[in-house]
Amino acid sequence: QAFFRPISRAAPPSPTKRHNKISVIGVGNVGMAIAQTILTQDLADELVLVDAKPEKLRGEMLDLQHAAAFLPRTKIHASVDYAITVGSDLCIVTAGARQNPGESRLNLLQRNVALFRNIIPPLAKYSPDTILLIVSNPVDVLTYVAWKLSGFPSNRVFGSGTNLDSSRFRFLMADHLDVNAQDVQAYIIGEHGDSSVALWSSISVGGVPVLSFLEKQQIAYEKETLEKIHKAVVDCAYEVISLKGYTSWAIGYSVANLARSILRDQRKVQPVSVLANGFYGVGGGDVFLSLPAQLGRSGVLGVTNVHLTDEEAQKLRDSAHTILEVQSQLNL
Ligand code: NAD
Ligand code: LAC
Repeated sequence: QAFFRPISRAAPPSPTKRHNKISVIGVGNVGMAIAQTILTQDLADELVLVDAKPEKLRGEMLDLQHAAAFLPRTKIHASVDYAITVGSDLCIVTAGARQNPGESRLNLLQRNVALFRNIIPPLAKYSPDTILLIVSNPVDVLTYVAWKLSGFPSNRVFGSGTNLDSSRFRFLMADHLDVNAQDVQAYIIGEHGDSSVALWSSISVGGVPVLSFLEKQQIAYEKETLEKIHKAVVDCAYEVISLKGYTSWAIGYSVANLARSILRDQRKVQPVSVLANGFYGVGGGDVFLSLPAQLGRSGVLGVTNVHLTDEEAQKLRDSAHTILEVQSQLNL
């Protein structure tokens, strides 16, 4: 007997909303920050968690399920078996080793490539039409690895890239100028890491190009000040890791924001790690790095033609070179 008695014999209307299923692989600090942001923002009808540690996985699943009374309705499941991810619309990969204080992201490569060999093929097998969003570090090289191992077209494989660095940049610029970070349009592109590139030439605040804004406000600015802000963006993950051991909240919001753009077909422009060959003279092999890309229901819809100065384009090519050098150590 059903709990509710129908009030008429008419068949209940069939749901018109599309059912969204998101799988998060890795339930560490990052995976759980992403999972809880996805839940609070009501982005999925079904959220699946996968990890290699069954006790930790079940503990995290139960802890989230116990918040059901305070959250939008989302079915939460977890398993060490990838069969549970079947038919996912979006798979977010956060599993893997993270940096020790002072260690660079690129140093994690060999350890995390080995894990990806066990993670990506089953995801592709159970969800052949899914979109893969890679977060584990070094994110640009691992996005390339995921693309290769999945055999997916490049519009369905991308990395969280410098969406996070750009948010840090916008926060620091907003703080410097005493404005709202949401009014600051600014991109960090290239590697999510030490060789990232700040696009000073295209920053605007409230629609006003920033350099003329600074001049109008008579805020003394020097190239050095701007460079210090970019250095702070590069250094801040190291600082957070040395203080609390890992980063989690900002990447949680950053990835949930990307999931929203994809699943709600928002067609927003966000800097994420995409197959970048041929853009701004990037070449020398298949390389993923962050460029401002338009995101929608079928993944990466295209790369936005933002104007780069010659110096910025050169720095981008240097960043690509750094990633390609690391990638050349791989034997896929
Ligand atoms: P963590 O150690 O807290 O969690 C990692 C999780 O991965 C653990 O639960 C572990 O059991 C799981 N795992 C390991 N091997 C697995 C496998 N084969 N299959 C499934 N699960 C497996 O680490 P974290 O702090 O959550 O960081 C995770 C990754 O995210 C790291 O590589 C870190 O560098 C990266 N990260 C990236 C960004 C970014 O902006 N791209 C930001 C923060 C962290
Ligand atoms: C970040 C990680 C460590 O927070 O890549 O930038």
